[in-house]
Amino acid sequence: MLNHRITLKARPSAIPGPEHFKQDVMPVRPLEAGELLVETMYISIDPAMRSWISSSSGYTRGVAIGDVMRAGGIGRVLRTQAEDFATGDLVQGRTGWQSHPILRARETQKLDLSLGSIEDWMGPLGTSALTAYFGVRDVGGLKPGETLVVSAAAGGVGQIAAQIGLIDACRVIGIAGGPEKCRFLTQTLGLHGVIDYKAEPDLAAAIRRACPDGMDVYFDNVGGPMLDAALANLRTDARVVLCGRISQTVATEPYGILNLGLQGGKRITMRNFLVFDYHDRYTEARAWLSAQIRGGRLQQQLHVVDGLDNAPLALGMLFRGENTGKLIVRAAA
Ligand SMILES: NC(=O)c1ccc[n+]([C@@H]2O[C@H](COP(=O)([O-])OP(=O)(O)OC[C@H]3O[C@@H](n4cnc5c(N)ncnc54)[C@H](OP(=O)(O)O)[C@@H]3O)[C@@H](O)[C@H]2O)c1
Repeated sequence: MLNHRITLKARPSAIPGPEHFKQDVMPVRPLEAGELLVETMYISIDPAMRSWISSSSGYTRGVAIGDVMRAGGIGRVLRTQAEDFATGDLVQGRTGWQSHPILRARETQKLDLSLGSIEDWMGPLGTSALTAYFGVRDVGGLKPGETLVVSAAAGGVGQIAAQIGLIDACRVIGIAGGPEKCRFLTQTLGLHGVIDYKAEPDLAAAIRRACPDGMDVYFDNVGGPMLDAALANLRTDARVVLCGRISQTVATEPYGILNLGLQGGKRITMRNFLVFDYHDRYTEARAWLSAQIRGGRLQQQLHVVDGLDNAPLALGMLFRGENTGKLIVRAAA
């Protein structure tokens, strides 16, 4: 059996693309005890991948030149040397960008299809959804009746964060790039308001028009000037959830935040977090998310790119705003 792999060839200085990766085919080695041979079905494409392939990978170990690109995914077990797994099991684990990874059983989880479909496990039950759940509820401490503003609201994390706000009886405003994404947010997801930041010369003023009394929680996926515009519109006791800063990941010049000085006396809280910190509570979160999906209150648009070979192209899409919803690669049917 052969394993199609995509390895890191060169570290990007800006938006990553096919030129930074190499494709090859290797024979699959025999399994050792505790290992599974898996056929990859879906791969998650995440902004964090850009940090993993840079020279200073930040919060986690980077991907070395020549290594298979790291990624989370879902696959089907083809062979097993682990007691608790059988051929045909559907599993979630660190598949990487490869067609036939060998996974360690102790780092691999069987999918509980009573909670949702295989596709739900890539979307509204996946890591992006868990990020939104813990970010809005634990870090943001959102309370009914409050105003929540979400940036990159049409993306993987953003769509779920915004809908959790709606479920929790809040006024929810989304910020996204372009009329199509904005229409999706109001007409399909039912947000109370939306701001197309690409059409707004003064984003702080646009937020003020959408939230005349200011916002209670700002869920920040973008950082940079967008964070600054949000900081100009916080209410007393507001919470800023620093989930991500995608605008700064590929910026050539770092952006210095200007509006922190406006917060004097407002007793605001700004907190960064990592979803993995909440690992012990994933079961609780997935039970809640599953109940919302079944109740028709939560949905997620998946943006599916076909073919493992296209994973490097897909990664660049995140930084050009070319995805609507959770971006995934379908490696096999
Ligand atoms: N803290 C954690 O544990 C954790 C876990 C997962 C993800 N995250 C973070 O969550 C954020 C969202 O991740 P995701 O996977 O759901 O990605 P995503 O939102 O599905 O995709 C990224 C989106 O960001 C927007 N964007 C890109 N460059 C931008 C720029 N320069 N200015 C403004 N918007 C820009 C684009 O939407 P527009 O078209 O609207 O511009 C793009 O579609 C990322 O910052 C990621 O790092 C954090």
